[in-house]
Amino acid sequence: MANSLFEKYGGFSTIHSIVIEFYNSVLDSDVVGPFFDGTDMESLIDHQTKFISFLLGGPVSYPEAKLKAAHSNLDIQSPHFDTIKSLLGETLTAFDVEEADIEAVLEKIETYRTVIAA
Ligand code: HEM
Repeated sequence: MANSLFEKYGGFSTIHSIVIEFYNSVLDSDVVGPFFDGTDMESLIDHQTKFISFLLGGPVSYPEAKLKAAHSNLDIQSPHFDTIKSLLGETLTAFDVEEADIEAVLEKIETYRTVIAA
């Protein structure tokens, strides 16, 4: 039996696919899409795959200081954070992640609100 959400949902390869789909919806959004003008999406997808894998108990660590540094100059407000969070929830639903597991992931994401948004 899988002992982490990371294993339960198929590890890096599934999470990588989820993250690609997530950023497609982020870039399509008028609210948060413009923040990513000029971002190297390939490297962002790599980092985000690592971060989400870390959140799900995968074999990788991701320091909070790095997350803070990546967002500190972007003037991100709480409503932007809400939008990103709900887009992630929608993507996880589209990948058939169970409702209880989605809630667990979003609760973990929520603990980073003050790290990411001003
Ligand atoms: C909801 C929780 C969020 C998580 C878990 C998250 C996670 C990440 C991660 C892991 C990176 C890569 C950092 C690195 O290079 O090491 C990143 C970069 C970035 N994030 Fe977020 N993020 C979140 C919210 C947001 C929000 C709300 C915005 C803006 C609306 C945003 C905009 C960006 C941008 C523009 C970059 C790339 C910066 C660059 O070009 O280097 N993020 N994020």
